Amino acid sequence: MTSSISSSIPSSELIKIKTSHKFYSIEIGIIILFLCLIIPCLIILTLIYQQQNHLPSLSLTKISLNKNFQRILLINYSQARCMDNSIASYYIHLTNNNNNNNSRWLIYFDGGWFCYSNESCEFRRQYSPNLITSNNFNKENLFKGILKSFKQFNIIYVPYCSSDLWSGSSNKTHSHGYDIFHAIFHQHNYFLNSKQIIFIGFSAGGLGLLLNLPDLLRKFSLNIDLRVIIDSAWFIDYTNNLNGISKINQGMIYWNTQISKLCQLKPHYKCLLGSEAIKLFPLRVKIFIIQSLFDLTQLQFDNININSYDFSLKLLDNLRQSSNRISIFAPSCPLHGFLFRSIWSKFNIKQRTLSSILNLWLKTRKKKDFHLHLIDQHFYSSYCPQNNDDDEYNQQIF
Ligand SMILES: *[C@@H]1O[C@H](CO)[C@@H](O)[C@H](O)[C@H]1NC(C)=O
Ligand SMILES: *[C@@H]1O[C@H](CO)[C@@H](O)[C@H](O)[C@H]1NC(C)=O
Ligand SMILES: *[C@@H]1O[C@H](CO)[C@@H](O)[C@H](O)[C@H]1NC(C)=O
Ligand SMILES: *[C@@H]1O[C@H](CO)[C@@H](O)[C@H](O)[C@H]1NC(C)=O
Repeated sequence: MTSSISSSIPSSELIKIKTSHKFYSIEIGIIILFLCLIIPCLIILTLIYQQQNHLPSLSLTKISLNKNFQRILLINYSQARCMDNSIASYYIHLTNNNNNNNSRWLIYFDGGWFCYSNESCEFRRQYSPNLITSNNFNKENLFKGILKSFKQFNIIYVPYCSSDLWSGSSNKTHSHGYDIFHAIFHQHNYFLNSKQIIFIGFSAGGLGLLLNLPDLLRKFSLNIDLRVIIDSAWFIDYTNNLNGISKINQGMIYWNTQISKLCQLKPHYKCLLGSEAIKLFPLRVKIFIIQSLFDLTQLQFDNININSYDFSLKLLDNLRQSSNRISIFAPSCPLHGFLFRSIWSKFNIKQRTLSSILNLWLKTRKKKDFHLHLIDQHFYSSYCPQNNDDDEYNQQIF
């Protein structure tokens, strides 16, 4: 922008006018200078204005959301309870932009593993007290990652307090993830006039989206641009191992998991597999999968040595098979989760960053079959920045 301003001031002409027409030189000079400054300014301002109004894009400048997040309790829903039996809640931040107040939404469902039996849930109550309630939520964590880049969006952040992959509905075991998830969409008519809704789910939150959204999204108006971003919840059925995702079946009974009628697969854990779940999403919904090919949680889940490439090759193959339906960012980073990190935007594959590919994806409208794929095919072209704070947060979760 600066270069376009300075190059459009024809300074040599100004000097010429001054020497040949002494009397008018000052006036003419001022007028020309004025015009030369004002026209590029107007063009630039128009561009900025258009950018803000028509192209919602990720902005990497920080905004102070901190003060403006309001906690809303789901008091009208007796079933929307956390594991400690407290009333579940979410946090909401509305944009200041009044013309646009109701039109763009970002809804973030958080993750944090799960528990699946009296014993494992008792362990969780003792050692992860912040994951069984939404009362002690530490807002600081909200502002580190991607949320602060969505300047022009109303934001809803939902803490994970049900330990059931957002899937359960059981008074006996205090598993109410399904009830909490759906209560949020009954509480207010937030989305009546919305143009765009972006759902983001991290880990267990991503599995919750895969399970709950196919039914829910059918209820939204066709005018709304619906987007889903799944961060690190693309599981595969890695059959060489008895642990793995099939173990979740035990949890599904404990939680009284509510499975959509759209998913007929048995056993039910198969409804959580990304490659299956995406088949149930309405075609107009755009889906972006962010998945490390060396996701530490999944490797741990399946008891796999990180030096074994077999799992990663199978995961790669599984993602490729779904690539005509989804956009993909799949680097080879040995960690779990991207978007909650302060450095989320810097992860890259072949010099193309996660933020640039997400921006591009957000800007493409209408075209149903347009998908972006940025995949580290040979496991050596990823850049995976590290940050100590992020590691602390990571450990706190698991
Ligand atoms: C709960 O329901 C009551 C009665 O319908 C209503 O007045 C109130 O606004 C609701 N509260 C919330 C937070 O939705
Ligand atoms: C579970 O508890 C809620 C609130 O106390 C109650 O309304 C509901 O009927 C109970 N459900 C079952 C299946 O017992
Ligand atoms: C949006 O603005 C209109 C009028 O300015 C107001 O009536 C409405 O409640 C606002 N919506 C939200 C979600 O704040
Ligand atoms: C788990 O706890 C519930 C509720 O306290 C109880 O009904 C059930 O028998 C327990 N199950 C096992 C396997 O101990």
